[in-house]
Amino acid sequence: MRREHRPVLLCVFTVFTVLVVGVEERQRGDECADLNNVTWQEYRQHRFKLQVQYLLLTRRNMDCAQMFDQESLSETQQQQQQQPYFNVSRPTKVIVHGYRVMGSKPSWVKQLARALLRAQDVNVLVVDWVYGASFAYNLVVEDYKEVAVQISILINQLQQHECKLESFHFIGISLGAHVAGFVGTLFDGKIGRITALDPAGPMFKGADPFDRLDPSDALFVDAIHTDSDYFGISIPVGHVDFFLNGGKDQTGCARSSFASMYGYVICDHMRALHVYMSALNGSCPMVGVPCSSYEDFLKGRCLDCGVFKGTCPTIGLSPNSGIVVSPVPREQKLFLLTTSSPPFCSRHFLLQLEVSPLDKSAEVEATLTTESLRTERRLRLRTDTTVYRTVLSHPVALCEIDTIKLKNTGARFYRQSEVHVRSVCLSEFPSLRREKPLCVNNIHVRRGAPWSHDFVQVCGSF
Ligand SMILES: *[C@@H]1O[C@H](CO)[C@@H](O)[C@H](O)[C@H]1NC(C)=O
Ligand SMILES: *[C@@H]1O[C@H](CO)[C@@H](O)[C@H](O)[C@H]1NC(C)=O
Ligand SMILES: *[C@@H]1O[C@H](CO)[C@@H](O)[C@H](O)[C@H]1NC(C)=O
Repeated sequence: MRREHRPVLLCVFTVFTVLVVGVEERQRGDECADLNNVTWQEYRQHRFKLQVQYLLLTRRNMDCAQMFDQESLSETQQQQQQQPYFNVSRPTKVIVHGYRVMGSKPSWVKQLARALLRAQDVNVLVVDWVYGASFAYNLVVEDYKEVAVQISILINQLQQHECKLESFHFIGISLGAHVAGFVGTLFDGKIGRITALDPAGPMFKGADPFDRLDPSDALFVDAIHTDSDYFGISIPVGHVDFFLNGGKDQTGCARSSFASMYGYVICDHMRALHVYMSALNGSCPMVGVPCSSYEDFLKGRCLDCGVFKGTCPTIGLSPNSGIVVSPVPREQKLFLLTTSSPPFCSRHFLLQLEVSPLDKSAEVEATLTTESLRTERRLRLRTDTTVYRTVLSHPVALCEIDTIKLKNTGARFYRQSEVHVRSVCLSEFPSLRREKPLCVNNIHVRRGAPWSHDFVQVCGSF
């Protein structure tokens, strides 16, 4: 049901993603600027115009945006108006949104700006742009380059006021990521950084790199993928590409068409933004593990960051995502698992199970518990293998896990025999200091009688 319904919803969604027509009058003095909203009629009248406007937020006006444009820094304008808070000696973050749902103001724009300003003393420019030509997604896609051209004119002006290209960091959401990519193309890849939050997929996946975001668009490009089977793109587009929970379906997002519009349509897509804002808060590190595929990652085939000399890339503002090797790789896929709510961070564990040979296939469920937190994983056991590896995530460190349980969960209608587990081992990764795995040996997991073991451990360095 879900997949068939979504194309229809995409159309509905696109129709409602009516954005913002620029204000005709620039506000002056102490009024706060805001992203605009438009009625359906206004939109139909103005759609031939492609008006792009900019809001400026800094630490001096975190709660009250200023309008900003090419002329804001020129002397004649400054004589007439209040001094803009833009400081040319500071780096500039440029937020480029993609969709705007249901005509409502995207409250996250201000949230993101605030999170950026709490983390760094920078200029934040919010690009407010209009889908000019039509409501249809394919025409919207044609417009995005024109938006990029307009932004590049502003960047050119700022360069004349001594802003360096490498001091610009674009943060593009969805279609906004490709807008940022094209701005990068116009500057021959010399802008400092582009961070893509679930870069849009439809009509871009098969596109030439010239027409979509790619690593040549900035000195460093990082991307977070959360809905790559629908609104997002499934291919790597940056130097590093973080695929959260495999990059398709996110934990805690509704999987049923009875769910709310948000839950059903864009929860996965918007997760990239929420995880990024949470990472900016710096409450916990979000570390990606390099691997060629999610399947390999889940099978425990990728456990370290050897290709990065042991330092794993992290989501957030660290230069080059914390990568210290040079040259920086391109299109490096990184995987991580997250929890379903802020701050989303999770620890990764390799679970290794060795059983005595079985006569029949079987199934066991492993559960980790720490106080009220539980993580479960089912393992299908076959007759031809005795060693199993799987990756799971749990919100706390290895030393904080209280209990491991194994339960025989074989088919109901035939008697699954007892499973003899030679050993079950848990280790945390990626880890620089290789701790010894926690192991329990020689366990009989009988049907109807779950086995459990309480760990007695202490956290801390020795
Ligand atoms: C602009 O930024 C620089 C560097 O952070 C700082 O030294 C200077 O005081 C700032 N100027 C204003 C007017 O805030
Ligand atoms: C659109 O803006 C008007 C005022 O300009 C406001 O009254 C209205 O609530 C806004 N609508 C939405 C959906 O934000
Ligand atoms: C970030 O931190 C602020 C202040 O501590 C908090 O209000 C906000 O909800 C946090 N945001 C996220 C996404 O974790």
